Amino acid sequence: MNQLKPKAIIIIFGATGDLAKRKLFPSIYRLCQHGKICDNFAVVGIGRRPWSNELFRENVEQSINDTLSSNEDLEAFSSHFYYHPFDVTDVEHYKSLNSFLTELEGHYDTDGNRIFYLAMAPEFFGSIANNLAQYGLKDSSAGWTRLVIEKPFGHNLPSAEALNNEIRAAFDEEQIYRIDHYLGKEMVQNIEVIRFANGIFEHLWNNRFISNIQITSSEVLGVEERAHYYDISGATRDMAQNHMLQMVALLAMEPPIKLETKEIRSEKVKVLRAMRQMKPDEVGDYFVRGQYGPGKIDGEAVNGYRQEASELEESHTETFLAGKVMIDNYRWAGVPFYIRTGKRMAGKATKIVVEFKDIPMNLYYKDQNEKNPNLLVINIYPNEGITLYLNAKKAGMGSQAEPIKLSYTNNGVDGINTPEAYEKLLHDCMIGDATNFTHWDEVKYSWRFIDSILNVWSEQQPNFPNYAAGSMGPKEADALLEKDGFHWWPVTEDKHEN
Ligand code: BG6
Repeated sequence: MNQLKPKAIIIIFGATGDLAKRKLFPSIYRLCQHGKICDNFAVVGIGRRPWSNELFRENVEQSINDTLSSNEDLEAFSSHFYYHPFDVTDVEHYKSLNSFLTELEGHYDTDGNRIFYLAMAPEFFGSIANNLAQYGLKDSSAGWTRLVIEKPFGHNLPSAEALNNEIRAAFDEEQIYRIDHYLGKEMVQNIEVIRFANGIFEHLWNNRFISNIQITSSEVLGVEERAHYYDISGATRDMAQNHMLQMVALLAMEPPIKLETKEIRSEKVKVLRAMRQMKPDEVGDYFVRGQYGPGKIDGEAVNGYRQEASELEESHTETFLAGKVMIDNYRWAGVPFYIRTGKRMAGKATKIVVEFKDIPMNLYYKDQNEKNPNLLVINIYPNEGITLYLNAKKAGMGSQAEPIKLSYTNNGVDGINTPEAYEKLLHDCMIGDATNFTHWDEVKYSWRFIDSILNVWSEQQPNFPNYAAGSMGPKEADALLEKDGFHWWPVTEDKHEN
């Protein structure tokens, strides 16, 4: 098989849904445009609605028109898409799908390679996986079969374990691709390169030189059309259990002995295992939660969470969380990793700030309390890149210092575009590279940690709402750092320069 232009049929369960429309169709289109997949592919959309191929193709085209600026050869592209109305609980539908796939495999010469992409209600993940195996869809073709699973992977550790057992009864671990789209982001992938390809950082990357690390993923959007899913999930399950802890693992892991999937995973798992488990009465010292009330964003009044949909009127679901993760190992003992994420915040930004320890004595600033520690900022969104804050002499007379910054901005592969996370991850899956997907062990230890927070929170009635839409979260999130002698570095605008 040509590794760069893999052949496969992608079967998307949940093809009429939001994710397919916003992310998957545009990503497949871009893979085609970038020559990463050739003519030997087809996409079969699975959904309950009685759509025709024509309607499905119109939707695919619409999604590309809505999300991308280029739309060349759209018709030729969408002709590779087929719709298959489906009831996931009806075994006959699996059998007919199998015959349909065999037919398409002949037509598109895809070597029998199949990707089953589950992008739908998680309660069906286990039974779909089982039916795919039981009714021959997994094993009847000549090529490979892979199963891509969207989050949420369970609701807590016991349900994730049950789901994993169900899926593992049907598919081998090597065939399972648990997707976390943050792992496909250019600058998240850059964390390892920044750390392991630069002598100057790796020597300082420990508790002797780093005082704390801050990871923020703030969003301006509210729950949009996803109230039903989000209210069950909340910020902790939606963002922290997966994306935020994955970034912690990449920042904290030891250098792998090789850049190979299993070596990298095993280092990440060690970090997740070393996260300090909090006792129930300690959770409040480490984590705070919030829910947005009404506020203003860009001068416009916006609703509070409880006004977003009638079912949310009395909700106690958190739309914000901030916390301190301690990694109890030799390298990180004593260094807090602060994480913070929420909906309806002041700006959309994903940023990592590595704060280095201060010099022992401040010779250059008049005010001994003025702190200008060196910072390494990894900008994941927007303006992908890195910035290093140093102190240099203030120009002119005198010998005062002032913070300066050295910046690198990523210009993408062609000077404009960076491949979308989903584009990269879909391609990785097609070429069988599971490095940027999460192994069960990572999921397991993340849930173990998250459960220890959620179990306590589920017993306590929060005082919500406690932050205004358009702010950076509740004041308790600031207090969390202040009691350790730190503060959040700005992420939505570059105030550090002032
Ligand atoms: C998803 C969450 O996993 O990540 C969403 O379900 C969230 O609620 C999204 O909006 C954020 O991703 P990104 O790439 O926009 O930072």
